[in-house]
Amino acid sequence: MPEPRFERHLFICTNARADGHPRGCCASKGSADIAKAIKIAAYDRGLKGRVRVNKAGCLDACEEGVSAVLYPDGVWFRGITLDDVDELVERTLVKGEIVERLVSPGHPRAAGS
Ligand code: FES
Repeated sequence: MPEPRFERHLFICTNARADGHPRGCCASKGSADIAKAIKIAAYDRGLKGRVRVNKAGCLDACEEGVSAVLYPDGVWFRGITLDDVDELVERTLVKGEIVERLVSPGHPRAAGS
């Protein structure tokens, strides 16, 4: 198997839907600003070339947004806010720890599931 290009790859949903859509969307919860803040924080922590942060389309976890998925860990995060950015970058992207309170409740790693 080839070496992975990045140690970690975080995809953040920035999908937008019209106001009033029954599923809502991550864009209406500030995902563009959150994605930008995570990218800047990751760059500031010297992760360029080691960790990749990308905007993504809908991850089909809209009700839990702002949603993101991390590879190769395969961990799904939910409810990310700007207040979570520094911790997510420092603990997860720099140290490889998972911020358990942000793990999607249906995920095997979620506390109490
Ligand atoms: S709109 Fe973000 S997961 Fe669907």
